[in-house]
Amino acid sequence: MKANSRPVSSNQRHLHPKLAEVVRRHVRTTHRGEIAAHNIQAYERLSAELNARPRPLVLDSFCGTGHSTAALAEQHPDHLIVGIDKSARRLAKHPHSLRDNYLLLQADCEDIWSLLVRDGLRLDYHYILYPNPWPKAAHLQRRIHGHPSFPLLLTLGGMLELRSNWQIYVEEFGCAMHLAGHRGRIFRLADTGSDLSLFEQKYRNSGHQLWSYTASMTP
Ligand SMILES: C[S@@+](CC[C@H](N)C(=O)[O-])C[C@H]1O[C@@H](n2cnc3c(N)ncnc32)[C@H](O)[C@@H]1O
Repeated sequence: MKANSRPVSSNQRHLHPKLAEVVRRHVRTTHRGEIAAHNIQAYERLSAELNARPRPLVLDSFCGTGHSTAALAEQHPDHLIVGIDKSARRLAKHPHSLRDNYLLLQADCEDIWSLLVRDGLRLDYHYILYPNPWPKAAHLQRRIHGHPSFPLLLTLGGMLELRSNWQIYVEEFGCAMHLAGHRGRIFRLADTGSDLSLFEQKYRNSGHQLWSYTASMTP
């Protein structure tokens, strides 16, 4: 990936003034969106894989090309790692890997989260790397923490890590988690010389500061 990405530019300079109101409204209600047929089909692949070999689950939501999914499969050899992205174009750029403990689903994360919750499945780890920032203030409800599906993510649990090159996004996410009853930690990601995803690599090579939020939602 080229290293000429511009930092996120937004008309928001602080946390969104409606953040608390929106998050509180969503955590009080149950997200009941209609589930698209292609997402049900994708989920059936996940179920079949788990039925064939039951293992604890790791999600790599919004995985893009799935480079991170393959790397996470190395880090968690006894888990099933599931990368989810809605873009067939991105997933088609996945590099060949010999590991057999991960799969990639072309699907909408919100629907897969909903089906996992419906079936009572829970996560050991949940990675959310560089989700689309939706930087315009008017788009708060498209951000993960402003979306009606946010409570599903809370129910799925596990060790959660969210990364972004937009500090405000990570701070809002941490604040939303706090409002929902989960305390976490925000820190700047050090350059360890090995980037977990292609967007991480692109942003780092473009000189951006990278931010991480982590929390344990394991009971
Ligand atoms: C900025 S990219 C980050 C990709 C990858 N995590 C990385 O760090 O390289 C955001 C990704 O989110 C995907 N995406 C956006 N909304 C989605 C949704 N509702 N469900 C699944 N994927 C989605 C896009 O297709 C895109 O690949």
